Parts: sequence; structure tokens; C-alpha cells
Amino acid sequence: MIESRLPIVRTVADLRSVTATWRREGKRFALVPTMGALHEGHLSLVRLARARAGRVVASLFVNPRQFAAHEDLDIYPRDEAGDAALLASAGCDILFAPAPGEIYPPGFSTSVSVGAVSEPLEGAVRPHFFGGVATVVTKLLLQALPDIAVFGEKDYQQILVIKRLARDLDIPVEIIGGETVREADGLAMSSRNAYLAPAERAIAGRLNAILREGALALERRRPIETAEAELKQHIVAAGFSKIDYVSVRDAEDLTPLPHATVDRPARLLAAAWVGATRLIDNLPVMATPRAVNDV
Ligand code: PAF
Repeated sequence: MIESRLPIVRTVADLRSVTATWRREGKRFALVPTMGALHEGHLSLVRLARARAGRVVASLFVNPRQFAAHEDLDIYPRDEAGDAALLASAGCDILFAPAPGEIYPPGFSTSVSVGAVSEPLEGAVRPHFFGGVATVVTKLLLQALPDIAVFGEKDYQQILVIKRLARDLDIPVEIIGGETVREADGLAMSSRNAYLAPAERAIAGRLNAILREGALALERRRPIETAEAELKQHIVAAGFSKIDYVSVRDAEDLTPLPHATVDRPARLLAAAWVGATRLIDNLPVMATPRAVNDV
């Protein structure tokens, strides 16, 4: 059994008393929100937070509001003691692990809805998702009032949604994205990778390689429509059972690009299923300047 010496607080009042002390001491501090089941991807966010602030608080809360009724809330992996030990080893100072009633007490009836950037892609396929994320992240930011908050770029759209809500609601925090950490074959680390059977795991590892080839083709001026269609064919041929989306979007606001080829910083985003497990991934696509006769 792994042992953790990480202090754990369970109430907003206790969290605030710790962060108020840090503030009085003039220390900058960072928040790393998580749903637990931690892996190297989360730990890299804690290390990034540590490099940018004097103190780090991580939160562990499996947020029921971002799961639809048919999703995996009940079986989502939970191991608080193991997570606390990993967080301590990565340089976290304290863990905020509230019970559901601390975050959503009886009578709770407010939700945060972020407009345009939350609507396509994940928002279209999982309509409940960003409302749940935006509500809990707004609460966590206001509970901790950190100087910075760090989120993984694997959930690229989530970072844009959180940046938007912090800006729109005047929450004084800098939102920072940490690079996606990958397995040797390119599979983005995710707590849900634990659901993959060995044969599914082999298929899952193909997604990133396929997207990389697609991003290169797009940077070499492959028309977006053609590239998206080819990517879908390759993903199906690799053994994925269903594709939710494969799409090239403006990197800042996720709107579709107006021209046939990529002419501005863009992002290639995909969500696909291997058996009953849903994977997401994304990559930057560099802009290629447009020629005068481009449409
Ligand atoms: O990315 C996650 O783990 C969750 O969506 C977050 C940001 C912790 C909110 O529950």
C-alpha cells in the first residue's frame, strides 16, 4: 500500500483557510482540478503548476454533473489514497477532496452555460458535458481563488470553454494548458484507457499516428474536406467502431475554417470509439500562407 503524507481538506472553509494563509504569506498558488484516477498526464500538470507557482492545490472530485445518465459515473475509477500519494510525489501541497454534498448542497440550482465555444464537437455529441464542467470549474475557481489553474490539452475544447468562462465572469485567474502526455505509441494518457481490453488497446494506439499524418497533409495544403474524409476512412480501417467527429477548426474559437485549406492556426480534433470506450485526441495544425488564387 502506498502511503501519502499529503494533507487532505474536505470542506470549502478548510480549503479557504489554507489558501488565505498562503495569500497572507505573499505566495502565488496554482489549482490543478482533477477527477482522480491519476496518471502521468495529471502529474505533469502538477509539475507545471509547481514551476509556475509557489504552492499547488489539486482537487479530486468526480463531478456527477458532467456525466449523462448512460455514462460511466458509477464505474469511474476511484483510488483517493493512491492519487494522494502520486500528487505528493509530484510536488502538490494539498488535496481538496470534497464530498458531493459539499459541492452541490441540497437546493443547489445554478448552472454555468458557456456559449459558442462549448457548442460544437464535444458539446454537440455530449450536450450535458460542458454545462457540468463549467459549473464545477467555476465553483472550484471561486472556492480556491488561485493565481493560476492548469488543465490538460488533451481536453482542448474544455480549456477554451474554461478560458471563456473565466474571462466572461471576471474570475481573476490565469488558465494554463499543459501538453498532452502520451504512451510510447502516441495514445494520449487518459483515466478511461484502463477500460481498454488488450486488442482494443492496440487499436487505440493508432489514433494519434493517423491524426499526425492528417495534420502533416493539412500543413502541406491538403483541402480540409478531403483530409477529414481520408482521416475518417483511416480511423475506421484501423478498427475503431464509431467516429463522433474528426474536424479541423480555428485554434482560438473552434469555428470551421472559411477557406479550402488551413490558412491560420488550427486544431485537428477527433473523438472515436473502440468497443465501449470513447477516446479523444487533438493536434495543432500550423497555418500555411494562402496563395493569391486560393478559394
Ligand atoms: O478534465 C477533467 O478531469 C474534468 O473535466 C475537470 C476539469 C476536473 C472538471 O471536473
